[in-house]
Amino acid sequence: MPENNEILVVNGNGPLHGRVKVSGAKNSALPILAACLLGTEDIILEEVPKLKDVEIMIEVLKSLGSEVEYLDETTLKINSKNLNSYETPFELMDKMRASFVVMGPLLARFNKTKTKSPGGCNIGKRPIDLHLKGFSALNAKTIQNHDEISAIAEDGLKGSVVYLDFPSVGATQNIMMAATMAKGLTTIENAAKEPEIVDLSNFLSKLGAKIKGAGTSTIMIEGVDKLTGTTHSIIPDRIEAATYMLAAAMTKGDIVIENVIASHIRPIIAKLIEVGCIIEESEDDDVIRVKADKRLKGTSIKTLPYPGFPTDVQAQFMALMTVCEGESLVKETVFENRFMHVDQLKKMGAFVVTEGNEAAILGVDKLKGADVKATDLRAGAALVMAGLVAEGETRISDIYHIDRGYSDIVSKFSNLGAKIKRIKVE
Ligand code: UD1
Repeated sequence: MPENNEILVVNGNGPLHGRVKVSGAKNSALPILAACLLGTEDIILEEVPKLKDVEIMIEVLKSLGSEVEYLDETTLKINSKNLNSYETPFELMDKMRASFVVMGPLLARFNKTKTKSPGGCNIGKRPIDLHLKGFSALNAKTIQNHDEISAIAEDGLKGSVVYLDFPSVGATQNIMMAATMAKGLTTIENAAKEPEIVDLSNFLSKLGAKIKGAGTSTIMIEGVDKLTGTTHSIIPDRIEAATYMLAAAMTKGDIVIENVIASHIRPIIAKLIEVGCIIEESEDDDVIRVKADKRLKGTSIKTLPYPGFPTDVQAQFMALMTVCEGESLVKETVFENRFMHVDQLKKMGAFVVTEGNEAAILGVDKLKGADVKATDLRAGAALVMAGLVAEGETRISDIYHIDRGYSDIVSKFSNLGAKIKRIKVE
């Protein structure tokens, strides 16, 4: 159960300065951990971020029979030779929707799998029809019974063509993993192109899978008999990097972000330059400097699948817009209900009007500290950012959402000069 008795207390303390190192990507680590179920030899994963969601995925793997051991803080050794279950425990599914991504690997290993339907979440309905469509195309029968979902391939999985109506990240990953050991060729059309898909593909290839086209909208997977082991380092978290970049911009700071891949965050860099930031990219290094020395200008963003503007940075960018000069516009096209942060930002004095999936923001001179709630992971990050420039104290509750996706957030922001602490409340 989430720990509700901790809050973050943030006080405005001027510009951020210094260096921050980005951790491994949550959204890469989770599917890659799931993919570890496919390999029958030792797998070493490096740069695994220290996050609640990762802990839950490790519990899922252990419950299925994988041996998982930490070699150091961010390195895991995993062996899934002796899996003993094809069912994801329902209580773990309840803890994290993303655990649904073990269905593909389990189907590949056992030709059957069963789990609980992931249902909805704070940011919308989150259907799984595309995942199931993919499994069906690969010759598995899918059965939905109340909140239980099973997939069974009695004659084994067979390669096929799967067209995704929307380039869903999770469906692309689940289908890729199921197809690694299917008979023949699977082609995923209108596949997601996110860097995390490419990371998963690179990892699967190292295990012995035959995959082409990851990072484009057509991915081809030629089934092989078995997958083995490897060593792999998780890519840097582009959403975490973007969050620190925006926080630096918002506080008129000057910070250096380490362990960042600039090509993964092009929309963020472009928009920050547009609003008036100075961005310096080092040519041969994974380092970016972000500097802002004046009030930034309003702009517009529209969220889209990669390489468009990421929905996972929409809330943080809106936080920035609340103090930009003039009007800004936000259009959310990926999720149906991803404006939960608006009411919380308004409590801090932001001027935002929403209609459907669009929001108009009129920049204010100052935000003020308030008692607010992290309604989801990225909304929580947006509130931390708002707290950094607000007058007075901001107290953020429900921070278990933030802990799902930001490792060491308090120490990373503190090292940049922010006044932020985690306290227990009754
Ligand atoms: C992943 C990320 C999440 C990010 C999202 C979009 C992980 C663990 N999470 O989530 O942080 O916000 O990508 O970049 O990697 N959809 C359907 N049917 C389906 C599946 C999805 O209609 O079967 C819809 C969803 O409702 C949503 C859209 O497709 O509107 C995008 O979802 P998807 O790309 O699947 O997101 P996730 O993989 O769940």
